[in-house]
Amino acid sequence: MERRDICVFGSLNVDLTVKMARFHAPGETVTGESFNVYTGGKGGNQAVAAARLGAGVKLVACLGEDANGELYASALAREGIDASGVQRHADVSSGVAVIEVDARGENRIVVVPGANGRLDAAAADAAKSIIAGCGFLLLQLETPLDGVIEAARIAHGAGAVVILDPAPARPLPDELLALCDYVTPNETELATLTGLSVSSDEEALAACRVLLARGAKAVVHKRGARGALWVDEAHVVPVAGRRVKAVDTTAAGDTFNAGFAAGLAEGMAVEAALDLANAAAAISTTAPGAQTAMPRRGAL
Ligand code: RIB
Repeated sequence: MERRDICVFGSLNVDLTVKMARFHAPGETVTGESFNVYTGGKGGNQAVAAARLGAGVKLVACLGEDANGELYASALAREGIDASGVQRHADVSSGVAVIEVDARGENRIVVVPGANGRLDAAAADAAKSIIAGCGFLLLQLETPLDGVIEAARIAHGAGAVVILDPAPARPLPDELLALCDYVTPNETELATLTGLSVSSDEEALAACRVLLARGAKAVVHKRGARGALWVDEAHVVPVAGRRVKAVDTTAAGDTFNAGFAAGLAEGMAVEAALDLANAAAAISTTAPGAQTAMPRRGAL
């Protein structure tokens, strides 16, 4: 197995996406503009984005044995992703996300995890050879935390680079942070992880340093259109974002992490990989749907 391969351990959702002029208030009924069904989920999004950027991708995830599971399995095959680590469960539905997107491209998401809830520590152990055989591990937080920790432990023990996207935001144990080479919070996630205000650049940098003190080797603070800030013991490096007209920002963060890992897997230095990540994430916002506008390597 190629040690530059990227293992993605995480969630697969089918995204039921409604486009609307504005988000509505509780009790209010509004007319939507369109409805579409897309493949999504933070794990699946990272896998597809990394594969389109030219990385060898192995996915460890769970699907139900239902129509959405079939839809997703076909999509993974079309993207050339090694899905031998995707487990199918007959007694639970595939994960679903109900997504509203407003006229500014902002989104609101409700996730029903379904089979993603089965991606626990036992599932990580069952996929040990896949995880340990890759050079990089991409993690997110839409699946059980014990599975995330076990996958990180396996990859760390095998000398792989562990990149954790702490999304959706939740507090995390230091044990997990200490297994991570890069933790990549956006502003909300940085505040949730540290319990600190991050309303200025100074506060954000201080919060990043708290994560370092708790064991993370490096923090890449995702700042949306402003790009990213890379912080470790020796560096405080801002990397500028790219300006685009955003239509749908769903999965921009997922594309960023995939681009970063794909860049590192190609042998790029951290700053260059972050520039690639910014560019890929920006392009991913230019069409509706999580995976629709994720760019291929040549398009960058
Ligand atoms: O990060 C975007 C993803 O979050 C969507 O594809 C949706 O499935 C939710 O999991």
